[in-house]
Amino acid sequence: MVKFYAMDRVKTKLLKASEESVRLAVELLKKGEVVAVPTETVYGLAGDSRSPDAIRKIFEAKGRPNDNPLISHICDMEMFKMVAEDVSDDALKLAEAFWPGPLTLVLKKSSAICRESSAGLETVGVRMPSDEVARQIIKLCGFPFSAPSANTSGKPSPTTAQDVYDDMNGKIPLIVDGGECDAGVESTVISMVGKTPVLLRPGVVTKEEIETVLGKRIRLASGVKNKIKNDEVVLSPGMKYRHYAPSAKVYILIGNLQKFKKYVENYAKNNENQKIFVLCFDGEEKLFGCKTICYGKRNSPKSQAHRLFSALRELDRQGAEVAFARCPRQTGVSLAVYNRLIRSAGFDVVRL
Ligand code: TXA
Ligand code: MG
Repeated sequence: MVKFYAMDRVKTKLLKASEESVRLAVELLKKGEVVAVPTETVYGLAGDSRSPDAIRKIFEAKGRPNDNPLISHICDMEMFKMVAEDVSDDALKLAEAFWPGPLTLVLKKSSAICRESSAGLETVGVRMPSDEVARQIIKLCGFPFSAPSANTSGKPSPTTAQDVYDDMNGKIPLIVDGGECDAGVESTVISMVGKTPVLLRPGVVTKEEIETVLGKRIRLASGVKNKIKNDEVVLSPGMKYRHYAPSAKVYILIGNLQKFKKYVENYAKNNENQKIFVLCFDGEEKLFGCKTICYGKRNSPKSQAHRLFSALRELDRQGAEVAFARCPRQTGVSLAVYNRLIRSAGFDVVRL
C-alpha cells in the first residue's frame, strides 16, 4: 500500500520541557511518530532509528534528499553497542573524551539501525547528546532516535523551539521546548572507519581538541572549507547540498573594516532599491550606513556559533534581500562558524 505522509496536516503542539511533555514525546516516538526535541547543538527532528516508517516521516517533514543519512542519538554506552560495530580504540577514546556532548562518530553500522536512516550506507553517525531532555527521552524510549536538524531542508538550523515551529508547524505532532540551544551549530562529525580519522563537519568540539586526545593529526575533508567539485567523491552526503541559506543573498567579504565599509557603501549607492543588511560582530552596528544584524563578539567564536543561525533567520524576518557578512577565522570553533557561513553564502566570497 502506498502511504501519503505529506497530505496529512497535523496540529503541532509546542510544549515546554516537563515531565508531561517528555512523557508525550516518548509515547509518540514509541508509536513511530516524529517529534522535535532540544539538544545542546540545535533542535533535532527525532524518530525511532529502527523504524523505516518513522525515518520516512522525518525525510518528508524536512523535504530532505533521501541519500543524506541521519545521526543516531544514544543515551549510554549500553545503547552504543546496539548501533555500531568494529569500534576502534581511537573511536572509544573520542567517545570517552567528548560524550555526552556535540561529537558524532561515523562507524560501521549494526543491523539495529534501519537502512533508511543511514541512506543505504554501511556506516552510521552516532552521538550521545548532553542535553538532559534529549537524554531523558532516549532513556525512556529504550531505543536510539535518528535526528537531523529540525529545519526545512536548506534553511538555517533551528536554535529555538519557535524556529522549529516556523518550519514544522502542521507537519509534526509535537515540539518540546527546551529553551535556546547552547552551542548553536550542529555537532562535529568525524569518520572513524578509515585508517586516518577524517573531520567531515566542524563543530564546537574542534579539530585541535580531537588531535590532542588522539595524539595524532587528522584529515580535514575537502568540502569543509571549499565547494565540492562536480566530479569529487563526497565522504559525507550532506556536503553536497545547499545549506543554511536564508532567502537573502549572502556574500562574505574578506578584508579590513575600512575596505568592508567602502564596498558596502558603493554597493548601496548602485543598488538603492535593495534591502541591504550587514551581518557584523557586536559593537560594529553603527559603522555602516545600512541595517545590521550582529552575530556575536569578534573575539569569541563560541558566541558567533551560538548566534549565527538565529542571525540568518533574522535576515528573513526583516525582509533582507542582500547581506554582506564579516568573516570569522578558520581555526578552532571559528572553523565551524566559517563552514556554516560559507554555505549560507553559496560559497560567494569577495576578497577586498
Ligand atoms: O548536532 C547535530 O548533529 C544535530 C542534532 C539534532 O543532533 N543533527 C544534525 O543532523 O545536524 P543533520 O542530519 O542535519 O546533519 C548530519 C550530517 C549530514 O551532513 C550527513 O550527511 C552527515 O552528518 N552524516 C550522517 N551520517 C553519516 C554517515 N554515515 N557518513 C557520513 N556522513 C554522515
Ligand atoms: Mg541539518
